[in-house]
Amino acid sequence: MRSAAELLAAEIRDQGPIPFSRFMETALYHPEHGYYRSPRDPFGTAGDFYTASQLQPVFGRLIAAVMHQRRAELGDPERFIIVEWGAGRGELAEHLTAFHHYALDVGRGSAPPRFEGVVFSNELFDALPVDVVRIQDGVASLMLVGRQDGGFVWTPGPPVPEEWHAYIERVRAIFPPGEELWIELPVRLRDTLAAMAAPLERGFIITIDYGYTEPELIRFPRGTLMSYRRHRAVEDVLRDPGEQDITAHVPFTHLEACAASLGLVSSPLITLTRFLMEAGEPDQFASALAAADEHEALRLRLQLKSLLFGMGETFRCIAFRK
Ligand SMILES: C[S@@+](CC[C@H](N)C(=O)[O-])C[C@H]1O[C@@H](n2cnc3c(N)ncnc32)[C@H](O)[C@@H]1O
Repeated sequence: MRSAAELLAAEIRDQGPIPFSRFMETALYHPEHGYYRSPRDPFGTAGDFYTASQLQPVFGRLIAAVMHQRRAELGDPERFIIVEWGAGRGELAEHLTAFHHYALDVGRGSAPPRFEGVVFSNELFDALPVDVVRIQDGVASLMLVGRQDGGFVWTPGPPVPEEWHAYIERVRAIFPPGEELWIELPVRLRDTLAAMAAPLERGFIITIDYGYTEPELIRFPRGTLMSYRRHRAVEDVLRDPGEQDITAHVPFTHLEACAASLGLVSSPLITLTRFLMEAGEPDQFASALAAADEHEALRLRLQLKSLLFGMGETFRCIAFRK
């Protein structure tokens, strides 16, 4: 097989339509043909999208400031460890050299078996595979991915598994009755959070992502799935698997509920702007903006502006304490 599309087409031919989480898993993470596993770099100008991690050095310096604050909150433990979950290109590493820093991603890196410190993630949860439910004329069905005319298409499948009934009911109650709804089921979220929390003996999980609280879901009757390619949003997430990113907004209310069920204590969900302001304010952003010359100073001020005003109100940050 030469591509994720060929693999998925063969799987559907042999077994019939597949859950969307299976489609997304292969499209993004197949060891050879997955979008995030292939040699092509998806990040930055020549790729498909930017994350805050490409705004260096300012983002890295502010995250380092956060880590110093968190280390102090833990009483300066001798071995304070940072584990970055879903590190992507790894741009943060050079800004975290004052700490023991472990970077892991799908198929590479690992966390120490037990540690005190911080598990950090930026845009991890929005990249986790989800399933999809359609509610039409009052009937909720799992939507599967099938094949038609040489392409991938949505096809209604079996009823929604029992474990998701309460979730679906809560979401359905947000919308006027009778409206057709498409809802993503965050089927990998709890296990991923549990894996992040497991080796952490004492400390924090800090995560930055874009998403919504349950009341805000009213804005998305057709769900939040989206693909990105060459810096353009693409609505057809079934197109060209392996060649474009696929994301789903993070359901923060559910993330908080999962955290509580794992014994983690949530702090309030805040905007990225507020999170970065709290990181930079103690020295009035002096260390984040330290530059060798005027040209560099201007570049760094523009980075800070992009972080605070470009991404800052879209992205949110939540911290959990263990
Ligand atoms: C949108 S990218 C963000 C990368 C980086 N944090 C940044 O800010 O540029 C999402 C990353 O999460 C990784 N990822 C997805 N699921 C993961 C998992 N279960 N464990 C570790 N990394 C994962 C992907 O491979 C990808 O590198």
